Amino acid sequence: MFNSVIAGIGRYIPERVVTNDDLTQYMDTTNEWIIERTGIEERHYATKHKETTTTMGALAAERAIADAGIDKEDIDFIVFATLSPDYFFPGCGVLVQRELGINHCEMGAIDIRNQCSGFIYGLSVADQFVKTGMYKNVLLIGAEMHSMGMDFDTRGRNVSVIFGDGAGAVVLQPTEDPERGILTTHLHANGSYAEELALITPGSHGGYHGDIEKYGFPDNDHPGGIYLTQKMLDDHLIYPQMNGPLVFKTAVQKFPQVIHEALTKLNLSASDIDMLIPHQANLRISQFVQRVLKLSDDQVYNNIDKYGNTTAASIPIALSEAIDLGKVKEGDLVCLAAFGSGFTWGSALIRW
Ligand code: UT7
Repeated sequence: MFNSVIAGIGRYIPERVVTNDDLTQYMDTTNEWIIERTGIEERHYATKHKETTTTMGALAAERAIADAGIDKEDIDFIVFATLSPDYFFPGCGVLVQRELGINHCEMGAIDIRNQCSGFIYGLSVADQFVKTGMYKNVLLIGAEMHSMGMDFDTRGRNVSVIFGDGAGAVVLQPTEDPERGILTTHLHANGSYAEELALITPGSHGGYHGDIEKYGFPDNDHPGGIYLTQKMLDDHLIYPQMNGPLVFKTAVQKFPQVIHEALTKLNLSASDIDMLIPHQANLRISQFVQRVLKLSDDQVYNNIDKYGNTTAASIPIALSEAIDLGKVKEGDLVCLAAFGSGFTWGSALIRW
């Protein structure tokens, strides 16, 4: 068995900056409310018609591939994590393969649908392929284009002020050094909370949960016609819905739990962490986790103030930025952790 190392990393942040004040032209919100509740000052939005989740993912991937010192033809498997794919299907894994121009190799490509935990889930999946020696260069991408799919009306403000666009990518390679690389990953889910943070329509549920009227499903035996109804459009049901306080409350329990689980597996304690990169969900969540784990400011990296919550992209963007700033050095113990829709959550410990 090998260990997987992050041999290359890259990020892509779209150019357009959208401040909290900019959002006030669409909805009833204030800069003060957003900063106080989330710590977010601005986020970036991709360019409509010109950029997509896939194109942003491809740009981050090219940087990660260059950083790893390999050619894109060396990639032998693709893992793509996103909740805002270009298409309902096929997934961004195959689209990014085409975008990178490496489809002639016909390597496998999968999509991970684990939202804010998508990067950790993707890392764990990629790690299994590398550990066993099956693949030598796995490309893992987390990318999101939230700006195309949120409700910018006041009724969607609890969601739309939080999320931003961007992409991050890593190349995983095997090492024979058992002390380096990904030391452990831990994944969890509890589907009882599926609808607490979800984009439910369009979808094939068709009133299964007794919500035929709510979604305006036709009351007949005719097949079809249930993915998207006029009522869904009229009632803004095509946008993500979030029970924010419940997500917050559960997140601050699960983050420390899953970090402790990883540390315990390796007989380590929180003080051994050199750098915690939490999924950038909300600065208040990260600060809470920092306090519970008794970590200093130097042991936690946050950049949500600049980018908002970029879901599957937030960890690779933050990790790549922390590396560029010299905050992650060889030999450091890096902890990644995430929580989000599903609910799903996870952690990883990496010896850099
Ligand atoms: O990535 C993982 C997934 N997401 C998260 O981790 C997010 C977790 N949750 C949160 O971060 C917080 O719940 C939010 C930041 C989303 C919301 O903060 P909150 O303190 O939980 O607010 P709330 O939803 O309980 O709403 C409190 C009030 C409500 O007004 P009333 O009913 O008290 O009059 C909301 O309508 O704040 C109002 N509100 C807003 N006001 C101004 C909600 N969003 C906004 C807004 N601007 N953007």
